[in-house]
Amino acid sequence: MKLLVTGGAGFIGSNFIHYILKKHENWEVINLDALTYAGNLENLKSLENDSRHQFIRGDICDAKLVNGLVKECDAIVHFAAESHVDRSILDPAAFIKTNIVGTYTLLEAARQNGGKRFHHISTDEVFGSLNSDEPAFSEETAYDPQSPYSAAKASSDHLVRAYFHTFNLPITISNCSNNYGPFHFPEKLIPLAITNLMEDKKIPVYGDGLQIRDWLFVEDHCEAIDLILEKGELGETYCIGGNSEKTNLEVVKEILAILKKDEDLIEFVKDRAGHDRRYAIDATKIKKQLGWQPRVSFEEGLAQTIKWFEQNQNWWQKIKSGEYQKYYEKQYKN
Ligand code: NAD
Ligand code: DAU
Repeated sequence: MKLLVTGGAGFIGSNFIHYILKKHENWEVINLDALTYAGNLENLKSLENDSRHQFIRGDICDAKLVNGLVKECDAIVHFAAESHVDRSILDPAAFIKTNIVGTYTLLEAARQNGGKRFHHISTDEVFGSLNSDEPAFSEETAYDPQSPYSAAKASSDHLVRAYFHTFNLPITISNCSNNYGPFHFPEKLIPLAITNLMEDKKIPVYGDGLQIRDWLFVEDHCEAIDLILEKGELGETYCIGGNSEKTNLEVVKEILAILKKDEDLIEFVKDRAGHDRRYAIDATKIKKQLGWQPRVSFEEGLAQTIKWFEQNQNWWQKIKSGEYQKYYEKQYKN
């Protein structure tokens, strides 16, 4: 099996490549990634001498490049996206281009090359925001995206489904809750909190900090994607969640406790515009159909993640100082 993985230098994509090459000895991966601010080749350093991994720097909106790579592969696993909600509020343009036009470009290449197997990675944010007493999102929940990020992801999901219905493209989609773990870019809540505390800085908590997210350890997400790729029913959507709803304040306090820091390092700041109150996933379908459920509890996963950030200070310090991008400028001048 030769996979084209898009966005494989980012957080979940790089974890997926490590997972898949460990699990399937004779699989190969072509990794297409534009190396935006979120892409980091250091996430893939341990694969430098592994001939099963080929890295291509390029944009998923580049139809010619994408077409050539799709030709070479058996299946596409599509992670590449602009992923940070706060950035989509500041400047939505890149979200529209990558998340919508980029997905369309990949779908067209898959269609024009004999109908390649296509798995699309999406998010629970396409379903909007839940009140505290509403049931968790499932595959039946109507789409109601609230931010430019989630609206662009919702558009991409609709396109993927349309290619199944109209062109019979063999697709699957997964909508996952919040991930955390190694290689998580320190602009997102958990890695930002961990690294700020390691630098004796405060943790910015938006609004009242009582927003709820359903946290999933990234390796559990990778296992679910692998299962869907191999055994998922074509045309179907699978919701993936951690069964671990926490308020942001609970998350931050748990990190403070593990790092033995004082709660006065919490700083309440202005709320995010249009901030979704609660996400939660009902993952019954994937459990019943494919036998998947999360293996790692939040407590275990958070402890492992903090340990990883302690042991990889050089990795996140280079990101925070901006030095990691200078490395690419030298390696890839195009
Ligand atoms: P990330 O921001 O860490 O990584 C995105 C990667 O895509 C980066 O390596 C970046 O360089 C690359 N990229 C961006 N634009 C590109 C383009 N035009 N062409 C090629 N590559 C491009 O994101 P992530 O957190 O790893 O998320 C990966 C996917 O999973 C996204 O589709 C996201 O919507 C989805 N998702 C994320 C979460 C989460 O909690 N992080 C949860 C559910 C779903
Ligand atoms: O639900 C899945 C989504 O999870 C993915 O689709 C997105 O790509 C991913 O970024 C993530 O989105 P969130 O907006 O939920 O993640 P973030 O880490 O940005 O924020 C988590 C919560 O913490 C959210 O309620 C906002 C809050 N927050 C975030 C930051 C960065 C803070 O209170 N302070 C912060 O500094």
